[in-house]
Amino acid sequence: MINNMNRIVISGSIYLLLVIFMIFLLENVQSASPIIKINSGSSSNSGFFWHVTDPHLDSDYSQGSSVECGELICCRKSSPGNSTKAGRFGSYGPCDIPLETFMSALDFIKTYPLEASFVFYGGDNLAHDDWNYNQEYNLNYGLLVANALRSGLSGSKFQNRIIPSMGNHDMAPINLTPLDPSKNAWYLHPVGDAFQFSFNSFPDGPAALNSFKEMGYYTVLLEPGFRAVVINTQFCNPLNFWLLSTTDKDPGQQLAWLNTTLAAAQAANEKVVILGHIPPGISTSSSLEESTGEFNLGMSKIVERYSSILVGQFYGHTHNDHLKVFKDVATSTKPTGVAYVTPAVTQWEEHNPSFRLVQYNKQTFQLENIFTFVANLTKANLDGKITWSMEYDFINGYGLTDLSPASINGLIFNQLNPVKEQWDKFALRFGAGYPKNVCHFDKPCKLKKICAMGNVLYSGYDICIKSNGKQ
Ligand SMILES: *[C@@H]1O[C@H](CO)[C@@H](O)[C@H](O)[C@H]1NC(C)=O
Ligand SMILES: *[C@@H]1O[C@H](CO)[C@@H](O)[C@H](O)[C@H]1NC(C)=O
Ligand SMILES: *[C@@H]1O[C@H](CO)[C@@H](O)[C@H](O)[C@H]1NC(C)=O
Repeated sequence: MINNMNRIVISGSIYLLLVIFMIFLLENVQSASPIIKINSGSSSNSGFFWHVTDPHLDSDYSQGSSVECGELICCRKSSPGNSTKAGRFGSYGPCDIPLETFMSALDFIKTYPLEASFVFYGGDNLAHDDWNYNQEYNLNYGLLVANALRSGLSGSKFQNRIIPSMGNHDMAPINLTPLDPSKNAWYLHPVGDAFQFSFNSFPDGPAALNSFKEMGYYTVLLEPGFRAVVINTQFCNPLNFWLLSTTDKDPGQQLAWLNTTLAAAQAANEKVVILGHIPPGISTSSSLEESTGEFNLGMSKIVERYSSILVGQFYGHTHNDHLKVFKDVATSTKPTGVAYVTPAVTQWEEHNPSFRLVQYNKQTFQLENIFTFVANLTKANLDGKITWSMEYDFINGYGLTDLSPASINGLIFNQLNPVKEQWDKFALRFGAGYPKNVCHFDKPCKLKKICAMGNVLYSGYDICIKSNGKQ
């Protein structure tokens, strides 16, 4: 036990040294980030936050190794074959990314010329070599990412405003999160402590840290009138087989906690943003529930009840850029809320590395716009440096007037579904601009995506599929 802990602490400090070295490298290699004008009428009245998720760092990533290696994960020194060589910053294929690419994203965020109020880190720290996962391996990556976020953002106004959530890959074995909180302490306690510096900067931070360490969910007041609620989506992950060990319809009592937390927020006249890892609803490709049916139902009821104080929800996990619109439970027709799914920082599997900036109104806390940033790995590997650029923003990129649930529902059913040019834009953005595996307008994959984005409940999804995309 003690030996193990020592090893974890020692390898943790080696990782920290590595992070510091990478920052030194980046500061000497990267030129200043290009300034991109945020186009909005009310930007002086706007607040901003960043959403960075799914880095899936691979410490075994090796430049020059084989990309098409015939194994489940490639781009490692040990990968067989030599037809395509892995580039320095990442390669399109069954590969994750080196730490340097993540540090470059954080450096871009840190030096971006506007004052963000916080960074939401969505989870999934480590590479897709799922069979290698064990508590020591996964915890090392948890501490590596916490240290990378801390040092990579240090010097910014928001350096102590990092809001973490846990991903399904952060658990060992993958996806498995026992319902007895003490059994997750191996991860949540040390990782929570690694973020203590950040929790401490929120007025309710100490209570939030305790809640994170115990249950993986928590709430913090971001600024007067604006609250973040971070959920632990392991309690609704259908691949978390510990959920089979209970008949409880609300594992971890998360929905009850959310209900109480939102009631208190409403009483205090606050607006709320909900943050998590796995999005609610149904997969945009497989028609399977991405979150459990019981959670989708409970969450739909809560979103409907508190729609006047919820400004939006942000998730990751799928690595793709898409949406989920909540509808009223009785008829599945009235939009009540929107979950935005932010594409991943890793390129796994064949999309551009990306992250997001969210703009909100500093008086009403309603979302004003969402900007997606991407990097072209082919270009980065040729140039010897990563250039992050804005791919698109929701308002101008889709010609919207606002980001209300009704407008986003209209985007899905009145623009993307019937209009080929609009669908084509979405289909390319789904993979963060990488033109492979694009779902074409006349293919069955389109209907599944439309219906999974326009519904969280299976009942509404089913009606949508059977009526060929009507809602
Ligand atoms: C690639 O691998 C093959 C078979 O192992 C070998 O014959 C060939 O010389 C290698 N090519 C390069 C460029 O390393
Ligand atoms: C939320 O709380 C209200 C009472 O305040 C209750 O009627 C409702 O059933 C609760 N919902 C859930 C999902 O716990
Ligand atoms: C990425 O960069 C490469 C090299 O500059 C270029 O050929 C390719 O078209 C770019 N891809 C995209 C999607 O912009």
